[in-house]
Order: sequence, then C-alpha cells, then structure tokens
Amino acid sequence: MPVYCLENSCYRGQAINTPPAADGKSAFTWPALIEVDRGTPPIRTFCKIYPEEPARKDLVNELIGYLGLEAFELSTPKRAGFIEIGVDQIPKNTPEWVNRNQSQVAWWTEAVDGPSLKGRFKVDDNIDPSLCAHRMAKARSTLLGRRDFIAKVIVADDVLANIDRNLGNLIAHTGGYVLIDNGACLTGPIWNASTLNASGLYYNIIKEFLEPEIRSLDFSRSMIKAKVDMSAKLAPLITEVNKWLFIVDNEDDRSAIIPFISERLNGAGMNKRLGFVL
Ligand SMILES: Nc1ncnc2c1ncn2[C@@H]1O[C@H](COP(=O)(O)OP(=O)(O)O)[C@@H](O)[C@H]1O
Ligand SMILES: [Mg+2]
Repeated sequence: MPVYCLENSCYRGQAINTPPAADGKSAFTWPALIEVDRGTPPIRTFCKIYPEEPARKDLVNELIGYLGLEAFELSTPKRAGFIEIGVDQIPKNTPEWVNRNQSQVAWWTEAVDGPSLKGRFKVDDNIDPSLCAHRMAKARSTLLGRRDFIAKVIVADDVLANIDRNLGNLIAHTGGYVLIDNGACLTGPIWNASTLNASGLYYNIIKEFLEPEIRSLDFSRSMIKAKVDMSAKLAPLITEVNKWLFIVDNEDDRSAIIPFISERLNGAGMNKRLGFVL
C-alpha cells in the first residue's frame, strides 16, 4: 500500500468513538479521522507525534519499518503516512514536550479493529506479579502456537533492528496479527551513520519473550525459511526505501540505511544473533 503525505486540510479531528491510546511514553498517539483520498469519507486512524530533538529519527524509523514489513509481507495497517497537524488541530491533552506553537508532522496509520496482545491478555505494568506471570504464560503459548508467523516477526525485527516489538504493538485482527509501531526500528529513536552497526546485537523483545522454546530445530527451520523468503524481497524493498531517503536530513545517515538492512539480512551474522540451531 502506498505511503501518503497529507496536508493539514485532510485532518478531520479526533475520533471520539475510538478509545484513546494510553500506551505512549516517548510519543503521543491519538485516534483521529483523516480524509486520505479527497472526496471520500474520512477513515479512522491513529496519529502519532514525537519529540523534536534534532538527533531523533522516530519518523524515519516509522516509515522504514512500515516499508520493511510491507515488503516482507507481514500484516501492517492498510494505509499509513505523514500528515501535517496545524497549530489549532493539535489535541488539547498533549504532554508538555509537544510544542503547541508550531505545526507538527505526525505519522498516521489506519486503525485496525482488535485488541493488542497486551490488551487481550491484560498484561500491564501494574498487575500483581503472579497474575502477570500466568497471563504472560498464556500470551507466550499463543505466540508459540503460530510458529511460522512469529519466526517471521523475530527475523524481521532483527533485520530492521526494531527494539520495541512489545505486546502492545501486535494487534489481533481477523485471526491473525497486524504489526504497528515501528518508531524504534533501526536500533531505536536516536541513531546516526556511525552508530548503525550491522552486526550489532540489538534487543529483540519477542525473541527474548519466547526463550528458551525457540531454541528448537523446528523453530530454527521456521526462522531460516523466513530469512530466505525475506532475502528474495530485499531488492523491491531497496527500491521503495530509495524513493523516501530524501526525508533523512543528514547525507551520511541517509546512505547508511540500505547497507545496514541489507547486511543484517544477507550477512553472516543472523545465525549467531538469533541462535539458529543448525
Ligand atoms: N493502527 C492502529 N490500529 C489500532 N490500534 C492502534 C494503531 N496505532 C496505535 N494503536 C494503539 O495505540 C497504542 C499506542 O500506539 P503506538 O504506535 O504503539 O505508540 P507508542 O510508541 O506510544 O507505543 C497501541 O499500543 C495501540 O493500542
Ligand atoms: Mg507501541
């Protein structure tokens, strides 16, 4: 699906009948209506703005992560992109770090109907530890029951260096899962050409969550198959990413993205990083 860049006239306000997103720690996310295609009814989306410190790359990460998951044929929200949010369109309840005196660029994704895994299994930071352990165990066995899918997620997160694939970022939908929130791809919110290390061992939440069960021959086979499938899809991904590199301000950073992804996918290091049982 194409990524859209929309003007603020496409923004149609907060969506009142969608529950507000409470997850955000480093970003502010809210449900909103957007007229994606002129003259058609607005669609339900989630809009997200990030702090503006110059070194941050969150919006770049959202885009590259989205393109990566699309190319690798993992389910993502159908439509997504950037939108300008004018000063008088910024929601009232923003955290302090949002500069309300200037317009903001938000990343938006089409709303997916369904609970996140975090919501489905009611795991949050505030519940009793023993109850939490029980619910976590249920969430683990659910994911382990979808071996090929979850192997693919682990490999994609490794390739894209997404360090934040937590249970809030997998939305249950029509019998499968849709992947959202790629703001922490490419090793996290702050990176530059010199810190992107293709052989680096970056945090892979789902892999950690499913240890040690993923250390089986069957699971390794699924991960290796995922890697081979994704390698075949690298060339079209590079073509897509190339079209968007202009959004990265710094030339060195811009040139670092494709070699990083290519090397992580096709270099020799993945076996070790993901602990394939060969
Ligand atoms: N496209 C979407 N469809 C459904 N729910 C979404 C979507 N985007 C965000 N959400 C909800 O909003 C929450 C926060 O959005 P997310 O992009 O994960 O931001 P954060 O970086 O704050 O975790 C998600 O955990 C999910 O509950
Ligand atoms: Mg999230």
